[in-house]
Amino acid sequence: MGARMCAAIGLAASAAVVSCNLDGADRTDEEVTASGEAANHGDGAVGRAVRLVHEGRRTFRFDTFGDEAFWGGTLGLHRAIAGSDHGGVGPGVSPTTALALGLKVDLDALSRRTVRALRRGEVDLDDPATTLALLKADAVVGITGFFDDGGQLTSIGIQCALCHSTVDDAFAPGIGHRLDGWANRDLNVGAIVAAAPDLSAVATLLGVSEDTVRTVVNAWGPGKFDAELFLDGQAFRPDGKTAATLIPPAFGMAGIDGHTYTGWGSVPYWNAFVANLEMHGQGTFYDPRLADATRFPVAAAAGFDDVRPPSPEADRITGKLAALQVYQLSLDAPRAPRDRFDRAAAARGRALFAGKADCARCHVPPLYTEPGWNRHTAAEIGIDDFQARRSPDVHYRTTPLRGLWTHGKGGYYHDGRFATLNDVIAHYDQALSLGLTAAERADLSEFLKSL
Ligand code: HEC
Ligand code: HEC
Repeated sequence: MGARMCAAIGLAASAAVVSCNLDGADRTDEEVTASGEAANHGDGAVGRAVRLVHEGRRTFRFDTFGDEAFWGGTLGLHRAIAGSDHGGVGPGVSPTTALALGLKVDLDALSRRTVRALRRGEVDLDDPATTLALLKADAVVGITGFFDDGGQLTSIGIQCALCHSTVDDAFAPGIGHRLDGWANRDLNVGAIVAAAPDLSAVATLLGVSEDTVRTVVNAWGPGKFDAELFLDGQAFRPDGKTAATLIPPAFGMAGIDGHTYTGWGSVPYWNAFVANLEMHGQGTFYDPRLADATRFPVAAAAGFDDVRPPSPEADRITGKLAALQVYQLSLDAPRAPRDRFDRAAAARGRALFAGKADCARCHVPPLYTEPGWNRHTAAEIGIDDFQARRSPDVHYRTTPLRGLWTHGKGGYYHDGRFATLNDVIAHYDQALSLGLTAAERADLSEFLKSL
């Protein structure tokens, strides 16, 4: 019962959380007392779940895990943002430029006065000083600015929300209410990294020049990031295209075993991985699989298999993993709006999905991935194994398909190789010899859009 009740928390509306907490709609007081929990629920499992969701949301949205030491301290990215007029270097980053890079502005963090001024066109969106004001207001999704007493930007750090949240564009494109868990397919991580004045640390790690680092990250393009680059140093696929993968959503993860496109591990495994190795937060990370110098030369040389903080008290990640996991598991995949797909066609597509097209063999409803060990070889899905070979198990994980309608931008499959759902289906039709007619392929596509 608790599970059903707290699914509502996944909507992340504080009103829903309060009612869940206070009236415990699903359970009678007798049941609560009988289960030995305090009458106000605050001391029981439900109260703890609610607290963890709140705490995890805070971490997901606002915690840098101390990674400002890297993004500001090592790369000097804050100096490129501030620009030479504000104690930094270069022209600075205006809000217009930031939005073009795919960064999002949290409307709810802005004062009424600011919103009014924005509406009247009284805010200069071409002035980097405006970006600094937005950072001071904590309004840039996924980025925290650190300022000194004189108001000068001294560092920046990043959060999970940078890549795994977007906004609903309620005010204007790129400015709106937060949508946690949604993949930000506009975000040009590579261009942002390339703007950092000092990439020598990354160049040293990869054993290449800073110019090469810039070429590599500039090749990623919007909506992509290469989490494996810093393990194996492979920047490009054999066909010369970037080895980066699309940013996936971080919602709809509950009930699912393997995460990432290649099934590196569970949600808490990957959260620890990312916070330590990709965001460069300060914490502890252990995975002896990365000590393999043949497969993961960069990781093995850098000791990524066994990362320790300077002292146990200095660990700013490990203590947050529990709440972060609970929050992610509570983020449900958003339902597709009715006007996004043809209902009759989708109903026919549903039957095909479980029948003739044989999709449900792997994408098992309602998880749309396999309960159990949800990985397959490249041959099973008819593609090359380049990306699979960059992971410990050399497999591809069956992608959970719910909320598919939110991340079509950039294409489908780990590297966006299929531009449309029709292309994905045509691929399966051919690779698995399904013999689907054009009408059946179209119905299947409508079903996928409805998930
Ligand atoms: C710079 C962008 C970026 C940031 C920041 C980031 N991620 Fe990710 N995340 C990605 C990419 C890209 C992948 C896919 C990696 C792969 O498959 O190799 C991913 C994968 C994931 C997955 C697996 C999703 C699935 O389909 O199984 C989870 C969960 C996740 N990230 C959570 C987090 C959390 C929690 C944080 C903060 C601690 C975080 N990420 C920070 C880009 C990012
Ligand atoms: C043998 C297991 C298997 C079968 C059968 C299968 N899939 Fe998949 N599916 C996968 C795997 C593994 C991936 C991840 C591929 C990647 O990212 O490179 C995937 C990815 C996808 C994606 C891309 C999701 C995204 O976010 O990019 C879609 C869409 C999809 N499958 C739909 C289908 C449909 C429709 C069918 C039936 C015609 C089907 N699948 C049959 C295993 C399977």
